[in-house]
Amino acid sequence: MAQTDPAPDKPVHTLTKEGLLTDSWYLAARSVELKRGGQMRRLILGEPVMLGRTREGKAFALRDVCPHRRVPLSAGRQVETEGEATVECPYHGWRFGTDGVCRLLPSLTDDTPYEASRIRVRRYPVHEASGAVFIHVHHDPRETEPPALAPPDFGAMPDRPKLSWQRALDVPMDEAVTRLASPERTPLVQAWGLWRAQPGRGGRDRLRLVARERGWAMTASPVLGRPGGAIGLFPGKAQLDILFQLPGFRWEILESSGARLVALTGLTPETPCRTHLTQLVWWAGAPQLNLVRAKLKATARRQVDTAQGRETGRTDAAETMLLENAGMAAGWYERLKSQGSAGRLRDAGPGDEGEPVQPPRS
Ligand code: FES
Repeated sequence: MAQTDPAPDKPVHTLTKEGLLTDSWYLAARSVELKRGGQMRRLILGEPVMLGRTREGKAFALRDVCPHRRVPLSAGRQVETEGEATVECPYHGWRFGTDGVCRLLPSLTDDTPYEASRIRVRRYPVHEASGAVFIHVHHDPRETEPPALAPPDFGAMPDRPKLSWQRALDVPMDEAVTRLASPERTPLVQAWGLWRAQPGRGGRDRLRLVARERGWAMTASPVLGRPGGAIGLFPGKAQLDILFQLPGFRWEILESSGARLVALTGLTPETPCRTHLTQLVWWAGAPQLNLVRAKLKATARRQVDTAQGRETGRTDAAETMLLENAGMAAGWYERLKSQGSAGRLRDAGPGDEGEPVQPPRS
């Protein structure tokens, strides 16, 4: 019997001409920003997106351009059409369901033989979990099938973040990732600084960068708190893991026997030159952290400024210890991104799940 070659992998992601990853989930908003019966406008991968929430509480996302005369739909209002939530364009009143299909053309008379349902506006699949709203951006704007890629999963978390904030950065997505989301700056800017942690006994030997699905994990267990740090408010001995996943999610999990904290940084390209940063932090079992929320938020903001070069960073032993791994991980971001768009993440990614990450091959 003739042997056939295995089918080539399909691309996991597609790159736009500006080098942005499509076929990906992006953090679009915090849940608190979407009020029931309201909508707002965001730029995501250069496209205007209307994010909305029906009066029943369901989040949805449509291209923020009316197909009639290109008026922003987000400037309209939500109205019920035959018992269903629809968005009414403010200009001529066309109404669109949350699936993007036109439900009503009010200028048509009863004898006009045109079906409103033939008109559509782009709809983005939405996933909302633990106070964050994600949208999936397919490379084909007309795609209506559910995404092949599952929504991001950052592990067990409470329903709502204890603190969150966001900021637009005047840097391209790749630069934002390598400055903020990759471990290249993580030890300096995010993890060690925010939690004032340092590696436990064993130091360098305990720090491992291992492959994970479409990304990597840096495990540094256990960690010890420094005076004034948040880890000191954790019951028991804390362990810190730092993870990254395409297209731009980096999250830290700080865990001890009685408490768990997850700090997520989500990067979403607004345009080729501008990136939206959102940070959300959830915790449970560490009530003393509730008392220092404002301080944690201020520290996180300051560290983003540091990563952007607005302040002078400092170097200490913990950073120096991690930089070897860090440069490797930053190299893997570029590699993951290009391999993901070529459909070869499996054989050209960092390696098998859980395996130590090796230096990128040129
Ligand atoms: S511009 Fe939207 S209905 Fe005319």
